[in-house]
Amino acid sequence: MATLEIKNLTVSVKEKQILKDLNLTIDSSETIALLGPNGNGKSTLLQTIMGNPNYVVESGEILLDGKDILSLEADERSKLGLFLGMQNPSEVPGVNNVDFLKASLNAHREKPISLFEFYRLLDNAYKETHIPFEMSNRNLNEGFSGGEKKKNEILQMLLLNPKFAMLDEIDSGLDVDAIQVVASVIKKEQEENHRGFLIVSHYARLYDLINVDRAVVLVNGKVVTEGGRELIKKIDTEGYEWLRHELGIEFEKEETMSSVSIGTCATKEALKAK
Ligand SMILES: Nc1ncnc2c1ncn2[C@@H]1O[C@H](COP(=O)(O)OP(=O)(O)OP(=O)(O)O)[C@@H](O)[C@H]1O
Ligand SMILES: [Mg+2]
Repeated sequence: MATLEIKNLTVSVKEKQILKDLNLTIDSSETIALLGPNGNGKSTLLQTIMGNPNYVVESGEILLDGKDILSLEADERSKLGLFLGMQNPSEVPGVNNVDFLKASLNAHREKPISLFEFYRLLDNAYKETHIPFEMSNRNLNEGFSGGEKKKNEILQMLLLNPKFAMLDEIDSGLDVDAIQVVASVIKKEQEENHRGFLIVSHYARLYDLINVDRAVVLVNGKVVTEGGRELIKKIDTEGYEWLRHELGIEFEKEETMSSVSIGTCATKEALKAK
């Protein structure tokens, strides 16, 4: 079993401190649901773990199986088994999707994959994610719809077979059927491959469809509380305001807080207000 440990991590972006002395440990057989109000550092945490150079680590450690990976580039971290499905996948004009997938896969292997084996894996991954195979010939994410981009991230995860998959709002932009497809891929991976998952979502809906071992809430760049499914449910129905009076947390990003909670409840409140 592999372990990913984040110890006393402080990270800044454009000289603004976003993560502050953050601690979190995840092992490769568990799934963590990472929640928190907008702009409180969830994507920053995932991008920093993956090695995006825009996120400057001021102090702390990120250890993969006890080895500090902070000096490694993103591709080296990927080879060690980390994967990030991004909140906003970039469009890469001029780079064919199949060429990209094959190059990524080969970068993880000593000997290049045979064409036969590659197409077998590709065909399975396209079928599993319900993406039409014709899309394999498009340029990477270019002109893809929001949902298509997210499903393409899941396809990459299937091909790269990471030890830890970090999925940043993988459900945003997905229609109801696509959420079911993505959730069933995640669930299958949880059950068959015992992958570690760090999954960011604002909605209980995705978490309801997969296994969740722990829910972790990030506010002001720190983990402020942890729990199980009951914590996800509480946030889904009540939002984050209760953290203030129950745990005495003051929100640095006041503008992100609202009296209306997220997800289904927010929709209900908005309808009531009409
Ligand atoms: N490249 C950047 N330049 C300036 N500020 C940045 C940059 N990247 C992140 N930030 C700021 O860091 C803070 C944390 O952003 P982050 O994307 O980690 O939030 P989040 O918790 O993922 O929010 P959301 O739920 O909206 O996705 C925000 O205030 C954001 O504006
Ligand atoms: Mg984010």
